Amino acid sequence: CGIVGYIGHREAWPLVIKGLKRLEYRGYDSAGIALINDDGLNIYKKAGKVQDLENFAEGKNLSGTIGIGHTRWATHGAPSDRNSHPHTSHSGDLTIIHNGIIENYATLKEVLISKGHEFNSDTDTEVLIHLIEEIYKQESVDLVEAVRLALHEVNGAYAIVVMDEAQPDQLIAARKGSPMVIGVGQGEYFIASDATPIVEYTKNVIYLNDNEIAFLKRDELVIKRLDNVVQTPFIQELNLKLEMLEKGGYDHFMLKEIYEQPRSVRDCLRGRIYPNEGRVQLGGISEFAHKLKNVDRIIIVACGTSWHAGLVGEYLIEEYSRIPVEVEYASEFRYRNPIITEKDVVIAISQSGETADTMAAIEMAKEKGATIFGVCNVVGASIPRLTHAGAYTHAGPEIGVASTKAFTAQVTVLTLIAFHLAQQKGTLTSSKLAELLTELDNIPQKIEKALESESLIKEISAKFKDSRNCLFLGRGSGFPVALEGALKLKEISYIHAEGYPAAEMKHGPIALIDEEMPVVVIATKNSSYEKVISNIQEVKARKGIVLAIVTEGDTEVRKMADYCIEIPDASEAFLPLLATIPLQLLSYHIAVMRGCNVDQPRNLAKSVTVE
Ligand code: G6P
Repeated sequence: CGIVGYIGHREAWPLVIKGLKRLEYRGYDSAGIALINDDGLNIYKKAGKVQDLENFAEGKNLSGTIGIGHTRWATHGAPSDRNSHPHTSHSGDLTIIHNGIIENYATLKEVLISKGHEFNSDTDTEVLIHLIEEIYKQESVDLVEAVRLALHEVNGAYAIVVMDEAQPDQLIAARKGSPMVIGVGQGEYFIASDATPIVEYTKNVIYLNDNEIAFLKRDELVIKRLDNVVQTPFIQELNLKLEMLEKGGYDHFMLKEIYEQPRSVRDCLRGRIYPNEGRVQLGGISEFAHKLKNVDRIIIVACGTSWHAGLVGEYLIEEYSRIPVEVEYASEFRYRNPIITEKDVVIAISQSGETADTMAAIEMAKEKGATIFGVCNVVGASIPRLTHAGAYTHAGPEIGVASTKAFTAQVTVLTLIAFHLAQQKGTLTSSKLAELLTELDNIPQKIEKALESESLIKEISAKFKDSRNCLFLGRGSGFPVALEGALKLKEISYIHAEGYPAAEMKHGPIALIDEEMPVVVIATKNSSYEKVISNIQEVKARKGIVLAIVTEGDTEVRKMADYCIEIPDASEAFLPLLATIPLQLLSYHIAVMRGCNVDQPRNLAKSVTVE
């Protein structure tokens, strides 16, 4: 979920609406805003997109210089008007917005019901505001203190903002486990789940820490810890430009982000590779050089697309540094009592840096003494602050829910980590490394070249757009590329798609192949080329329709495939960075042709801050 709050001299409604649109990537089942103005407290909420809320509220009294808003990704209670935030207390004076989960809400709710509280929704959030109200009434303390005491009684994760109709000159915010940023203006404060709603008003921000409460008035800010110790706010300057958050002439953020990849990969490499010297420099992890040199095993944890990047990382790290790597879904890893010791290095990959399962996996591994590196995109997010060291991907804000440029940037960082390890261990000679780095330096241009196939891909998309199923096959590092291609297609076009190791096809998916089944095969010229050709023949023998991703100038595959898309020739190490590009464009165009909401596919969210 995404939250926005404002207190100051501007009109809150337009500012909060705009902020919620920026945060819609975090969930878009329903949205709501509460304002205080001459009419008192006004709450508007609606199931659906932020735009639906805006339409609904048109013509109503939207004035007021204090307000809070929320865009929801449902956990407790189906998406509906009544389950939308903000929620109010029993008396109706107090309102709250909340991102996270209150795990013990059912027990708290029972106690509150026995004290006469009535509830209007199925949410855990409504329970929390009733609890705050109960303490506020019973304990004769001020509201900040009531919030603080209430938070001592809840288990779970939260970022909350509380507003009181009787005190329209204050907001109270708190966080534990869910992100929150406070923007500091002149006589005004902004609150949001990330900095994107704030950046056009101020560059000065404070990242609230876990277990902190902020008390905000128009000209005053006090931050305390939950144990009541007052904190000195640490104001940082934002390094985010407004243009990065807009579509810049593209129809969708996803397309813009696909086209940004030559630049995002270049930004990721900047200052980190020295081809002439055959040297990789990864500032973030260099102080752990000794540890890395002697490490016996690396464990990669991640979710979704980031997990696919991890699989590519496994191939690269094992190939070049000969260190064994295990890649784990963070959600499985955290619950299966894994064997971890202080000798292990864990690499956590996360675009958002906020994924709840990945955070929990890190905490567990940290407790067992492992050294944790982060590979994250969002600067200052929770995961980079939890890890011992790390490398940012520098892809810039990714807004499309389906990850594109963040994936290629993750793969780029993992490639650098693999080379860095090889350099430490001496498993690559500096002349071989120099050769690879020279080629890597040129990959952004090759990505640009791969993007030139867009019109051909559009034509092919028209042929595939009505398919009900689609299979993606690859071998070696082409296998995670196939997984990622399938994930992209299913996420945004709702066509059922599966990624499979090409050779495994004969142990199952082959049963599905008939003249209606499109099979996308990564068939570039590398060590498994001949084998992949045999797999294509197996598909053709069953009348499947083959779309092959091939190396420029290929003639062999062209003889048997129905469609071919060329990518520039490159060493096997860089194949994932190039072969991914046409698959992104393919799913994009198929989804557009099917009339799907590409940037905000149904039921998904970009930042999954609940487990
Ligand atoms: C969600 C997003 C995916 C993403 C995954 C992991 O499912 O929709 O695009 O890959 O979370 O997120 P992370 O931010 O940890 O990379």
